[in-house]
Amino acid sequence: MKILRAPQSVAAWSERLRKEGLTIGFVPTMGALHDGHRSLIRAARLRCDALVVSIFVNPTQFGPTEDLTKYPRPITHDRALCRAEGVDVCFEPTPDAMYPEGCQTIVTVPEIAHRWEGKTRPHHFAGVATVVTKLFGIVRPHVALFGQKDYQQAALIKRLVADLNLGVTIDVRPTIREKDGLAMSSRNRYLSPDDRRAATILYQSFQAGRQAIEAGAKSVSTVECIMAKMVAQESTAHIEYLALCDPASLEPLTQVKGRILLLGAIRIGSVRLIDNMLITR
Ligand code: PAJ
Repeated sequence: MKILRAPQSVAAWSERLRKEGLTIGFVPTMGALHDGHRSLIRAARLRCDALVVSIFVNPTQFGPTEDLTKYPRPITHDRALCRAEGVDVCFEPTPDAMYPEGCQTIVTVPEIAHRWEGKTRPHHFAGVATVVTKLFGIVRPHVALFGQKDYQQAALIKRLVADLNLGVTIDVRPTIREKDGLAMSSRNRYLSPDDRRAATILYQSFQAGRQAIEAGAKSVSTVECIMAKMVAQESTAHIEYLALCDPASLEPLTQVKGRILLLGAIRIGSVRLIDNMLITR
């Protein structure tokens, strides 16, 4: 496995492979890799000839009070995981290489970015959209894989690829969970043992929502109330949002029918957890 830090080196590698007619797969990450990342890497390995994983804790997607400096960076573990999964190139750019002095372009996807996550994290998705556009420009992948865990992020990436004619196929893969249902996340390690136990309440609230929908619940507010009551059973959990929305537009639903996305974010102590579940009625 090559470990490349300079964007120019990755671009040159990619150009060479493209000329040979090979398919390049790409999994962008911020490192601290777990089985959720691993599932994306495995799926990419199966469908592509060559595979790039980027590890870059992107400063522009963190808010001023967020965990940029303390975000975990277990690089030896991450490289070993990539090596074991047959990754060809591990791209580890520095912040200076990604954002050299003078750079000023920002990519925004306003309608998607301002909803849900965007309400508490106003600049987050501009940071994500900008860095992913830049990474695509460097890696020039044919296919890029993202997790359903970050549903709004995946929706935003699909929109920006279509809007900017980037010509990258976006493959969104299912959420990988711990045995008790908690969605795997690099941030789960911040949870104390008690908070870790309480954290499953978000997934349980989606299950309660799904049961209510399957049992014929008539109104959106009834289902949202059932989910909120479930979360309220954990006194340490605070709801940021818990909603039924349209899986394509992410707009709040007014009727319980068709394809329904249950979307939620809660805080337990200082840790924010997000998750979602897709249901068809
Ligand atoms: P990161 O949080 O490291 O996630 C990298 C990819 O792994 C994302 O597509 C995310 O949705 C996926 N992922 C995370 N947890 C998962 C789980 N439990 N199951 C399946 N997939 C999961 O998302 C980012 O990094 C950044 O915003 C990035 C896109 C790299 C831009 O900086």
